[in-house]
Amino acid sequence: MACVVLAAGLGTRMKSSIPKVLHRLGGKSLLRRSAELALELKMDKRIAVVSPGVEQYEPELPEGFELAVQDKPLGTAHALLSAAPLLGSWDGDVLILCADAPLMTLKTLRNLVEMHASGGYHGTLLTGKLQNPEGYGRVIRKSSGEVQKIVEEIQATIYEKAVEEVNSGTYCFDWISLSDALGELQIQPKKNEIFLTDVVETFVRKRKTVAAVCADDAREILGINSRRQLAEAEKVLRFRTLEHWMDNGVTVIDPQTTYIGEDVTIGEDTIVHPFTVIEGKVSIGKRCEVGPYAHIRNNTILRDGVEIGNFVEVKASTLDEHVKAKHLTYLGDTTIGRKVNVGAGTITANYDGKKKSQTVIGEGAFIGSGTILIAPVRVGKDAVTGAGAVVTRGHDVPDGSVVAGIPARELAKSKKSGENK
Ligand code: UD1
Ligand code: CA
Repeated sequence: MACVVLAAGLGTRMKSSIPKVLHRLGGKSLLRRSAELALELKMDKRIAVVSPGVEQYEPELPEGFELAVQDKPLGTAHALLSAAPLLGSWDGDVLILCADAPLMTLKTLRNLVEMHASGGYHGTLLTGKLQNPEGYGRVIRKSSGEVQKIVEEIQATIYEKAVEEVNSGTYCFDWISLSDALGELQIQPKKNEIFLTDVVETFVRKRKTVAAVCADDAREILGINSRRQLAEAEKVLRFRTLEHWMDNGVTVIDPQTTYIGEDVTIGEDTIVHPFTVIEGKVSIGKRCEVGPYAHIRNNTILRDGVEIGNFVEVKASTLDEHVKAKHLTYLGDTTIGRKVNVGAGTITANYDGKKKSQTVIGEGAFIGSGTILIAPVRVGKDAVTGAGAVVTRGHDVPDGSVVAGIPARELAKSKKSGENK
């Protein structure tokens, strides 16, 4: 099976200077999301149809994708015709995905492909039932239940408009039958486009078999044509992730105000409090507490039992077991040993205007409230910094010592060294 991702066209309803399919959902472009689905489905051939200016699209496509350029946005059928030269004499099936409908799950797509192949149909549509089907193509069935045609909003009668089963824009077709039918389609004058959806009626007229699979969850087929729909899709994606973690033993106190990215992993019995954002590549252990109002960013590891409280931001840092940073703190490019207490208002000053530097805090250390650690710097095991201390760059704090003041100076040494200043 070959896969064609339709990603050209104007996307005028986005009111944007960048193409619709390059807008981001959950931090990833719509185009990349569809392309990754095609990749996971292990399609034998992968084509993306894009508008002129291929260099904008190329970075979003994984290796092994061929690009077809649709020179004018003359509709979804015309987009497919633009891919025809790359398909050549392909004698298998094609899976068609729309880059503006990126919420499809692999499970649903596998279902579609499986149904198409096992039923030996010439065409199989993925549909969904929407309470408000406005804007989508309606799937019209005969009284026998067989698919008869798809009518677009502008073609539909009031009776057809009331149909709740809509076309997702995702289909499997036998390529030879499809390319045959494509050649016979007429331009729809009201939109000056050739509609791919019109092939269904052509298939039925030619006695080709057409089936439809209805997605269990209609949220999967959401198409993104406007910024409002983009925000709606963001919400669907977000809840999918939140529900996954709740199903896997994580307490999310208020899903409405919690944002957890797709590349985050969280251990059992961790509690995520309201107004918390966890994004990028982040791993959180078991029995942690995060938030309220916490921001955990890319490349962070929180090991078991870590507690991160209000207005704490953590970026590119590793916090070992039972570290606590509960109030008003920034930890960036920092490695912290077990059981360290990070006092309220602690800041790791990791950026000198040119480069980022590392801070290391040893096991059992106690960082006093309002400490500023100017990186690169190291605070030793069991060391203490006094409230308001400014530990300057390179002035490492020895194990077990106590420092205070601006710049921080050593007050006492551990018993081991026998000194006390
Ligand atoms: C399309 C379907 C509609 C379906 C809906 C699902 C048609 C005629 N209608 O409508 O039945 O319910 O999707 O979301 O197909 N594209 C191109 N070239 C073009 C036009 C579009 O590549 O000239 C691509 C777009 O990038 C997009 C996809 O095709 O990814 C769908 O195009 P769009 O114009 O959004 O179609 P809809 O009006 O949403
Ligand atoms: Ca659309």
